[in-house]
Amino acid sequence: MTEISKHSKEPDSISYLSQADAAAIDELLMGPLGFSVDQLMELAGLSVASAIAEVYGVNEHPRILVICGPGNNGGDGLVAARHLHHFGYKPSIVYPKRTDKPLYHGLVTQLESLSVPFLSEADLPHHLKDDFDIVVDAMFGFSFKGKPRPPFDTLLQRLQVSNDSGAEDAGVPFVVSIDIPSGWHVEEGDTEETGLMPDMLVSLTAPKKCAKHFRGAHHFLGGRFVPPAVVEKYGLQLPAYTGSSMCVRIGKQTSIDVAALRENYVGAVLLEEQAILDPIKQFQVWFEDAVSAGVHEPNAMTLATADAEGNPSARMVLLKGYDERGFVWYTNYGSRKAGELSDNPRAALVFFWDKFNRSVRIEGPVEKVPEEESDNYFHSRPRGSQIGAMVSSQSSVIEGRHVLDQCYKDLVDKYADGAVIPKPDYWGGYRLHPVRIEFWQGRESRLHDRLRYTLTSRGGENKTWSIERLAP
Ligand SMILES: Cc1cc2nc3c(=O)[nH]c(=O)nc-3n(C[C@H](O)[C@H](O)[C@H](O)COP(=O)(O)O)c2cc1C
Repeated sequence: MTEISKHSKEPDSISYLSQADAAAIDELLMGPLGFSVDQLMELAGLSVASAIAEVYGVNEHPRILVICGPGNNGGDGLVAARHLHHFGYKPSIVYPKRTDKPLYHGLVTQLESLSVPFLSEADLPHHLKDDFDIVVDAMFGFSFKGKPRPPFDTLLQRLQVSNDSGAEDAGVPFVVSIDIPSGWHVEEGDTEETGLMPDMLVSLTAPKKCAKHFRGAHHFLGGRFVPPAVVEKYGLQLPAYTGSSMCVRIGKQTSIDVAALRENYVGAVLLEEQAILDPIKQFQVWFEDAVSAGVHEPNAMTLATADAEGNPSARMVLLKGYDERGFVWYTNYGSRKAGELSDNPRAALVFFWDKFNRSVRIEGPVEKVPEEESDNYFHSRPRGSQIGAMVSSQSSVIEGRHVLDQCYKDLVDKYADGAVIPKPDYWGGYRLHPVRIEFWQGRESRLHDRLRYTLTSRGGENKTWSIERLAP
């Protein structure tokens, strides 16, 4: 779990809006700039759901309570709940003061059609944490003034965490506030000291002045729709969104207590009766799970080698093929890893797929793949990667970046006519022939499942493996 810092981490280099400017920007967007409130709400809610998914994994934190107020902030919460449902979370809604407008009726109908439960305050458990991992605070937005009225006042009290205790200790789930932590003054922050202390704040369009007082672990910006006219008029300095992301982190994550980083692994299990006898097939099932769940670079693995004296070294490489013969990656035969493999042709591989809390360890002897196999793979790569492989005398010391850039440019010119780029003889694949494969499935309370397969006979096609359970 991230440690909640007591020191300001909000950067000065970005803009923080006053309440008046925030209202004026909304008017501009929904007036001359042609947006409708439905559109802005949809994008805001999607940003909030994306930020939540970026920080709180769906396997570890699936149960989300969204508390919606009567205004636009509540509407953002309803939209976020719909997206969270589609992301695989289990949202529930508390929406005590419903707004009688078609937009809000539509949002409620959409959630009802997904069987997302609407709860009353009386349905909530005494300890919110018993039923929920995260609470989304969509009670009050930037136009709210005055004191929260019932039932929001009591809901706020139930979500308050003393500044000295983390949410986990107080029996309160992680709180994610949309745009303004409820109970806060839009510009001054928690002046009454009765407001929420969220773990995450998702500012929309641009952070409001109160965000300077935010001390939680995660501050994100959402609402990727601000046109240049608004940026120029208000001189906005905002962090850049990357790729297709609907949210961007503001500032650095607060200091992380690495020793305390832990997830309480829930969900999947790995029992002897369900384990496939052939570990390559078992690997295939887990690998395909990771691929279909959209894990980023599911084929990234740590490769550990050791030199002739037994000094170990490790680095990341990409798995490029696997079958009954073993696990293949490609590299430079002049690199450090290659030198170590030539002196000591044994290695270990480790995969970690955090979405599933799964890891696989593989050990065994290593040999180069046949030249023809490397050649085929080399020519299946994009031309830029083929040239890149030629350019780099991997792991040797070079004078500067310009050496690479110049060499790359020369080779691009050389092969500009589309001629076949020959595979350099110092580049190719390795295959690790597994003799031990361990599958690790994270479980609750550190009682993880570990099944180790050991090769007992090679018999050509018919390898046999023993399976043992290891203590976590
Ligand atoms: C995700 C990831 C994937 C990588 N894949 C490869 C790879 O497939 N082959 C490779 O030679 N280097 C790959 N690298 C770079 C290696 O980690 C490493 O820097 C390089 O191979 C030199 O290692 P060495 O000096 O121990 O030989 C990858 C790095 C990362 C972060």
